[in-house]
Amino acid sequence: MNNMQTLLQELPSDLDQDLLPRHVAVIMDGNGRWAKRRGLPRIMGHRQGVDVLKNLLRCCRDWGIKALTAYAFSTENWGRPLEEVDFLMTLFERVLVRELQEMMEENVRIQFVGNLSSLPSSLQSQIYRSMTLTKDNQGIQFTVATNYGGRQEILQACRALATQVQQGQIQPDQIDEALFSRHLYTANVCDPDLLIRTSGEMRLSNFLLWQMAYAELYITDVYWPDFNRQQFHKALSAYQQRERRFGKI
Ligand code: FPP
Repeated sequence: MNNMQTLLQELPSDLDQDLLPRHVAVIMDGNGRWAKRRGLPRIMGHRQGVDVLKNLLRCCRDWGIKALTAYAFSTENWGRPLEEVDFLMTLFERVLVRELQEMMEENVRIQFVGNLSSLPSSLQSQIYRSMTLTKDNQGIQFTVATNYGGRQEILQACRALATQVQQGQIQPDQIDEALFSRHLYTANVCDPDLLIRTSGEMRLSNFLLWQMAYAELYITDVYWPDFNRQQFHKALSAYQQRERRFGKI
């Protein structure tokens, strides 16, 4: 890592440090279209997308945002052409190997959420290695949703709680929002305050359905590989204009 990268970039002066989201979630959409527009294979969009995610993680760290969650692969993405799925799995693994040292230096705590057991075993090994090595880091919490589906996550929490009821460990009326949240993959991180989705689609796509109940949504037409610090600045400015009422008046 060179010195330029270690220097923290200051929060733009028009943003209020006290009103920043604690947790930002991103749906990184538009990689394929970005590549197509340039006459490139779709996978080039994903490759470019990695650099964008890395820059965003660093930007969050610089500006004092405590958690970033990225939707890297949904349970529905298995339906893509085999070559693209294979490329993505290999890309995740390569990036993890390549970036681990830097994540340690930058104090990033990485975790993966989703049904990890059906990922290629070599990728699973790298995932567990990176989660174990970074688990005590105190910097930004970086969560990567891989083979993730929000409904599936809710169902597995229901099954775990139902089992506890069946075994007499808890009573049904003890199941409240806090207990339920502790049975989700994201138990260790606060709910996202801001969801950014690129490429203009107005959908949640099965992402963090429970956790996003009160998230502010920011949709931009920009394709993910073009999403940069300026775009993020715009998203944060929009977020800071919002009045968050959480159902109150
Ligand atoms: C959606 O664009 C993007 C994906 C399904 C993959 C996103 C993954 C990365 C950017 C790599 C992240 C890497 C790590 C290690 C976390 P799309 O393909 O649906 O684009 P389209 O809608 O234009 O077709």
